[in-house]
Amino acid sequence: MKVFLKNYGCQMNEHDSGRVKDLLASEGFCFTEEPGEADILLFNTCSVRRHAEERVFSRVSSLKALKERRPDIIFGILGCMAEALREDIFIKLPHVDFLCGPADLDKIPEIIKRVKSGGRHLIYVKARKSGKIPEFPDKRDVGRNAYVKIMEGCDNFCSYCVVPYVRGEERSRPSDKILKEIKDLADKGVTRITLLGQNVNSYGRGLKEKIDFSNLLKKIDRLLREIDKSARNLKIDFLTSHPKDAGLDLFKAMAMLESVSKKLHLPLQSGSSRILKKMNRGYTIGKYKKIVKDFRKIVKGSSLSTDLIVGFPGETRKDFNDTLKALKEILFDSAYIFKYSPRPFTAASKLKDDVPQKEKERRHSLLLETQKKILLSKIRNPSL
Ligand code: 5AD
Ligand code: SF4
Repeated sequence: MKVFLKNYGCQMNEHDSGRVKDLLASEGFCFTEEPGEADILLFNTCSVRRHAEERVFSRVSSLKALKERRPDIIFGILGCMAEALREDIFIKLPHVDFLCGPADLDKIPEIIKRVKSGGRHLIYVKARKSGKIPEFPDKRDVGRNAYVKIMEGCDNFCSYCVVPYVRGEERSRPSDKILKEIKDLADKGVTRITLLGQNVNSYGRGLKEKIDFSNLLKKIDRLLREIDKSARNLKIDFLTSHPKDAGLDLFKAMAMLESVSKKLHLPLQSGSSRILKKMNRGYTIGKYKKIVKDFRKIVKGSSLSTDLIVGFPGETRKDFNDTLKALKEILFDSAYIFKYSPRPFTAASKLKDDVPQKEKERRHSLLLETQKKILLSKIRNPSL
């Protein structure tokens, strides 16, 4: 049977989609890039902003005719939208046969069997309760770069973010499993590994072993040195860090360990301490700047990227100007800028979404343009 699998969203989803492909390949399925050639159509979805959901609705709707022509075709919605929207998806997309949340992705072969023997509108969503991280076959289709998941879920409950509700509570994978996976990948010729977690800096919380993220990096670095003495050809990246947990231990490890990349993605979200408080981020702009100062002092040759949200409920012109000011002062190497989008279950969705769309767009463009100028001046003057 031929599978079409389309991924939406973040690196975590991209990784999940890759592992689902590996699992299906190990069960004898093959793949196609052409929806019209497929017997099974899977969409691994994202709920972080409404726009991401709308894209999925419109794509899956546009493929409805395939099912009308061949009712045996199977449609599955995977990932965060399955968790967030559940049976509502079947109201808008009745031709979808099943939903499968992020913590149930290892059950896809079983779900497909159930659909083939007549199951309709099946829902597999356990992320919020299960506490487990699905494990996939060791056999992987990889090139030079690969992701390794070190943790899943998030306990931070930033007030705008749906992630804790769709990916469940934070849980870490034991370090021996992570190290084994990295060793296997290095043996297969992978040279750059990106460790993934919603909040990598709190790695290890809740595990039986006593370990934190910097210690995990040290263990990985040691392993890579055993494989490649200089560790020059094997590099470790990681995503995403939270300013409230990133500190000197991490920066010292980044500076000291040759295999660890000097890139840090540290979402700021807003330059206004008042908005940061409403976002439940756990730091002020002053504290964030201090963290950046430490980072740049300790990690030489570093690069820093961030995420920013404009138009959070109650964001005044003054709050926005604080963000603009922070962007100009901190001089990030790159910045991902988003317009606030109210999400189900979240605390912020109970606040009035009171920044008009046009104003969100204006603020969004202004930050994008400012960041573009910063990049140009950084290229002209690399010492900035
Ligand atoms: N609206 C807009 N942007 C959001 N993000 C998360 N939730 C929302 C939302 N409701 C952004 C944050 C986060 C990035 C992955 O997506 O900036 O860091
Ligand atoms: Fe969402 Fe905040 Fe967790 Fe990031 S740290 S996934 S923004 S709740």
